[in-house]
Amino acid sequence: MTEMPEPQLQAPPALSAVQQTMLIPLVARALGGGLFPGHACGDQQAAELVRRLRLHTAPYLVDRPTVLNILWRTKVIRDAGLAFFARHPQAWGVNLGCGLSHYFQWLDNGQNTWLDADMPQSMELRRRLLAPGGERLRSAIIDLRRRSWWQDLQLPPAALAQPLFMLCEGVLMYLQPQQVRQVLQAFATQAPAGSRLVIDILAGCAVGMAQWHASVGPTNAQFHWGIRSLSELTDCHPRLRLLATHSVASSHGWMGLAAERMWNYWSSTPLYGVVELGVE
Ligand SMILES: C[S@@+](CC[C@H](N)C(=O)[O-])C[C@H]1O[C@@H](n2cnc3c(N)ncnc32)[C@H](O)[C@@H]1O
Repeated sequence: MTEMPEPQLQAPPALSAVQQTMLIPLVARALGGGLFPGHACGDQQAAELVRRLRLHTAPYLVDRPTVLNILWRTKVIRDAGLAFFARHPQAWGVNLGCGLSHYFQWLDNGQNTWLDADMPQSMELRRRLLAPGGERLRSAIIDLRRRSWWQDLQLPPAALAQPLFMLCEGVLMYLQPQQVRQVLQAFATQAPAGSRLVIDILAGCAVGMAQWHASVGPTNAQFHWGIRSLSELTDCHPRLRLLATHSVASSHGWMGLAAERMWNYWSSTPLYGVVELGVE
């Protein structure tokens, strides 16, 4: 585990609504295993950060469906990363909109390199909480709404000489649809062949409904992007391929499956899921 500098720190009030949402997955990964032992992800850094930020965690933990969704997606993404780095042991991983997550604790194989990237205020909070990572654990400041976000990653030639593993979780639903298309197009045009982009997806019916979400509602962040068809993920560029789709529904038992079956009368997408995109 990365060593963290003291002293303890309150979450700075300068975080925007959407930036505050980073605390939702942080608490889920830190404490969600107590609610769902079979889904525990063993995130020691998250537990330490929750303690140091002195977060009042009860409001997050009463939203059990969200806690379960986050533990579930963490495992799906971690497994996708492990499979990718088994094929490309020296490749780079990039976490877009990383918040306070720490995938390198699970994906570090001693040869690969990881880049955590987020907006300035989020990266400033990270910098104040976490010790600098070193050569194989780097950071970058980006804004995915800017067309130049890919260049802002400042990936060196060595990173681009082989496939990249990119992930973007809990982020794209807060962007406008046109901005999401730009993110996908940048990945499609810039990433080397064989690269992967793992993202989570919300059904289109969730757009504009964040105020009813038990954890996101209090932050005042809003969902702007959701999909009604999986083809929307690849339509924006001919190089994009949909390689795998994972739905969280079965993790929620019969109620999750029933809700998704009803939704599937209108749409073939999961209500909430994770997809793996690739470029040829
Ligand atoms: C729900 S949190 C998810 C954090 C992290 N991915 C996780 O799962 O723990 C949303 C994150 O998206 C980041 N974010 C929001 N808009 C962004 C943008 N335009 N560019 C980059 N990151 C953004 C926020 O700063 C925040 O860290």
